[in-house]
Order: sequence, then structure tokens, then C-alpha cells
Amino acid sequence: MVEDRPPRKRLRGYSMGVRCQNRAKSRSAGRVFVRVFRIFKVFAVPRPILATIHPAALQHNLDRVRRAALDSRVWAVVKANAYGHGIENVFEALRGADGFALLDLAEAERVRALGWRGPVLLLEGVFDARDLELCSRLGLWHAVHCDEQIDWLAAHKTQVPHRVFLKMNSGMNRLGFTPGRFRAAWTRLNALPQVDEISLMTHFSDADGDRGIAHQLAVFEDATRDLPGERSIANSAATLRHAEASRADWVRPGIVLYGSAPDFPAHDAAHWQLQPTMTLATKLLAVQTLQAGDTVGYGSRFTADGPLRIGVAAVGYADGYPRHCDTGTPVLVDGVRTRMVGRVSMDMITVDLTPVPEAAFGSEVTLWGRAPNGTVLPIDEVAQAAGTVGYELMCAVARRVPVAVDG
Ligand SMILES: Cc1ncc(COP(=O)(O)O)c(C=O)c1O
Repeated sequence: MVEDRPPRKRLRGYSMGVRCQNRAKSRSAGRVFVRVFRIFKVFAVPRPILATIHPAALQHNLDRVRRAALDSRVWAVVKANAYGHGIENVFEALRGADGFALLDLAEAERVRALGWRGPVLLLEGVFDARDLELCSRLGLWHAVHCDEQIDWLAAHKTQVPHRVFLKMNSGMNRLGFTPGRFRAAWTRLNALPQVDEISLMTHFSDADGDRGIAHQLAVFEDATRDLPGERSIANSAATLRHAEASRADWVRPGIVLYGSAPDFPAHDAAHWQLQPTMTLATKLLAVQTLQAGDTVGYGSRFTADGPLRIGVAAVGYADGYPRHCDTGTPVLVDGVRTRMVGRVSMDMITVDLTPVPEAAFGSEVTLWGRAPNGTVLPIDEVAQAAGTVGYELMCAVARRVPVAVDG
């Protein structure tokens, strides 16, 4: 299945640009337009860039989570359009999860439209009192992190009581009730006829780092010890790195499902036995031969110190490839690891062809993911070169990049 997202509107723009002075002219312009349209339809081959989603890898990574959290049910976190992969593209592979956790009603509607009848959790709850109506209709479970959300529930008219996940701010200081106010929130919710079951959740700030989860876990356990209800505390990093300590009824992995190591560079995806779920690939559009002293790209950021073949690849920051990547960023050409040189442009990058002397016009360039020869370039390495994390690169793949699902 190939989802070719962008170009439709461009055609409409063309037709608006046709100006006719009389009917005859208008008819002939119309015929020209139809002919142009036909030609366009036949010959509009997209740029060679493609993001490919790998369902088998998604399934593998879900199994990996299951093995790490044997007694827990698994929320597959598919917010941010399944971390840029497309909810529809990952759904079949992840339907072995126990539920889908996501951000908003639009994403929840998409999951229901795919036929999912099981649990769906709004991780930040509702953003407006009116959203509760759709929660009732779609049977959504939702986080409750503030007094306003409880007020809205108290005023909500529903025949179907809601399942809620009461969120504690155990130290991250983003969303949730502080430990001192948690019990009062629970008591209020518990008294509402609109509420069916109350589960308890919190979120860790340092599960991927040296500080760890012990301090927040102690706060959470202390404040909830005698409260009934299921618990959900672990994201990807906690699930893999602190499996014992963060054991609970539900885990909430996101990034590991998408094959990125939650604690890179301390550990890489191979260490956690994760497989890449997205490959971003393109082709060489041109090859240049440089001499010592020749420079490459905007700002002449790279200077050749001797004869050098470079390839020009059809990807740029307008595709979501980060402009912060600089000379040295890893890239695969025909499955051979090499480096980017010079600045990332809007639609192109330039790569050193020294390790791949046979590379030529049309050679395959893998920006991250798996090359046709099986070599993997972890997204985390590219993210590191850009001073960011794999999460951001996945989410930032631009709409103009066509997406295919393999298998
Ligand atoms: C509340 C909550 N739970 C779980 C996750 C999944 O986190 P990760 O992708 O690090 O596993 C997120 C993501 O930020 C989140 O906000």
C-alpha cells in the first residue's frame, strides 16, 4: 500500500492560473488543461524519496515489550500519529497490544474507525468539557490531571460512567495532582456517578538517565498505598531499564515500539534487541568530482582536501531531514556506511562517496532504517548528529514524503 500524500492541490492551483478572454478561448484552454492534466497524470513520477514502515519490526518490538513486562497489559502509545509512522500504517501490527494510548479525540476516532473495540486511553485527558460527550460515545478512557477536568466530569450528562486514570505529579512537574492533593482528587472522583473505575498513573522524568525512577516511585507508592485501582507508571525506558521496579498493571511504551533505544547513547537499539520500524530512503540525483580546495553547498561549510567524489541525494530539511546535521552525519549509500558533507539544503544533501566508489546516479541512499542489503543505520545515530532524539526525527517526516508499508 502506498500513500502518496501531497500533490493534488498543485493541479488545482494551475487551473486557477488559466485566464480566458472569451468562450472559445476558454474551451481551448480547457482542452489544453485536460491534455496537460492527462500528461501530468501519466508522467508525474514522485521524487525518489520514500518512508517505508515495517510491520514485522513493529510486531517484533511489541513482543520485546511483552517479554520485558510479562505480567502487565500493554498500552501501545500511538500519539503524534504513531510517532510519525501513521496510525493506519501501524494498527494491524500493533493490534496485539491490550489498548491504544494517544493524545486527542481525532486520533481516538481514527483508532475506532479502524475497528478497534478495546481500550483507548487519552493520555492527557480531555481539553474541553464538550469532549466528554465523544468520550462517552466512543467509550474512551481518559486521564484526569487537574481540578477543571473533574469539574467537567461532574457536570457531564452521561448514561455510561467513565473509566479514568487519575494522574499524579510525582516529581516531573508537568501534569498531575501533587501527592498532597491526590487523595482529595480521588475522593471527589469516587463520589461522581459519572465515574466508573479509577486507575492511578504517573510519569517518570528520568527513566532513561542516571537519576532513575526510585525517587518518583517512592512518592507514588507512598501516596497511593491504600488506594484501590489499577496502576500504570512505566514508559519505554522504565519498562526496559527498570522492569522489576516499575512492574504494574499496565505499561505505556511508545518509542521502543518504533525501534529506537529509549536511552541512547547509553544503550543502542541492538542492545535492546529492537528493530527499525521506519526506513527513510532516497536516491542519488547527481555525482560531482571535487578537487582540493573545492567547497560544497551553502556557506561552503565543507572543503575537499584532495580529489573527492560526492553524491547529491534527494532529501532535505523540507522532507524532515534535520538541518542541524553537519559533516560527518552517518548515511548509507548502496548499503555502505559513509558520511554527509556540507550543509543540509531544503531538498538535497551531499554525501562522501569514498567508501562506495561504484556509487552512481540512482544509487540508493538510506537516511535511517534498513538498506536493501540489510545494513541498519539506527535513527538514534542520525538524531545524535542533529543534537536531538529519534522521537523528533520520526515525528518530523514531512507530509510531502510518500509513505509505503512493506510486507
Ligand atoms: C504519559 C505518557 N506515557 C507514555 C509515553 C510513552 O513514552 P515513551 O515513548 O518514552 O515510551 C508518553 C510519551 O511521552 C507519555 O506522555
